[in-house]
Amino acid sequence: MLTQIKDLATKLAPRLIEIRRHIHTHPELSGQESQTAAFVAGVLSSNGLYVQERVGKTGVIGELPGTNKDSRLLAVRTDMDALPIQERTSLEYASRAKGIMHACGHDVHTTVGLGTAMVLSQMSEELPGKVRFLFQPAEEIAQGANWMVADRAMENASAILGVHVFPSIPAGSIGVRYGALTAAADELEIIIVGESGHGARPHQAIDAIWIASQVITTLQQAISRTQNPLRPVVLSIGQINGGRAPNVIADRVQLLGTVRSLHPETRNNLPDWIEKIVASVCDANGAKYEVNYRRGVPSVQNDYTLTQLLQSAAEEAWGSDRVQVLPEPSLGSEDFSVYLDHAPGSMFRLGVGFKDRAINHPLHHPQFEVDESSIVTGVVTLAYTVYKYWQSSD
Ligand code: NI
Repeated sequence: MLTQIKDLATKLAPRLIEIRRHIHTHPELSGQESQTAAFVAGVLSSNGLYVQERVGKTGVIGELPGTNKDSRLLAVRTDMDALPIQERTSLEYASRAKGIMHACGHDVHTTVGLGTAMVLSQMSEELPGKVRFLFQPAEEIAQGANWMVADRAMENASAILGVHVFPSIPAGSIGVRYGALTAAADELEIIIVGESGHGARPHQAIDAIWIASQVITTLQQAISRTQNPLRPVVLSIGQINGGRAPNVIADRVQLLGTVRSLHPETRNNLPDWIEKIVASVCDANGAKYEVNYRRGVPSVQNDYTLTQLLQSAAEEAWGSDRVQVLPEPSLGSEDFSVYLDHAPGSMFRLGVGFKDRAINHPLHHPQFEVDESSIVTGVVTLAYTVYKYWQSSD
């Protein structure tokens, strides 16, 4: 079966590269993926899949029925959106949309999803269970997975697989990770209210800027002294707004930041922990405060059994020297985690790095490029894992 999958994927390679380049040339921002979605729907239906459009606003679902009509289903998720970045590569198929670029490889993900659907559609007699392909919009704004789930994209799903490109792994190899793959990403707003006054007479005012600077340093110090160092927390204040003039003491400062964590329990305690620290600094200095903590996407926690299945499928396909078990998670975020509230899943990292280049630009870089030979690696890995999933659960 593996040989058959590899042959099908290799035969499809030129078409898949054409598809990927088409998507790369015509990137669309989060929530606006209407042309990409129409293109995806066209490819799916011409390969005989049952297609639903406008799932999760601009998302698409393609389904293969499987031979057992009563079976549950295995979901495969790929995302389709691009970023507000001006491309600076010299590729002949570079983005033609000004200021928009597939700099996170979602063009490759969409192509790998389509390629997997094309391969599996040609061997559907061998698949007892249903396979549902989720082409998700708006991953970059951490909304699309919620939209898809709200439109019942996970109904009857017994498991879900996902993929993300990774430039520091060479094309031809993949990475799997047991447990935490990415972090929970929450948003933080702190407002500090003091009392305005003359810059020459600070003792008659309550200086919100000085207090804000103490809040920031106290938070950073408190992380190192009060959070378990084996359960990482990263808090970054990325924006400060406040003050009106150089000689006027500011009465109001707004701090905006992001909070990353890996352990659900740690995460649950963070809002109270932050509020206590802010309160201690503000109370001591006579300022009022407000803390708004908004929970974003949770951490991606890869399921053990499904990760094992991915690893063994990839090792059979490519040999164990081309399958890395990643020792560390990332503190980036990924809304694949939203699906994991509905079924266990595992997301793997697809190597897209060029072996012969000294520099492979990171994700979200205006010169980010991928080695397109990775597309076949992704398709075979996913298609064979799907096949093995149904072999093992029947
Ligand atoms: Ni991405």
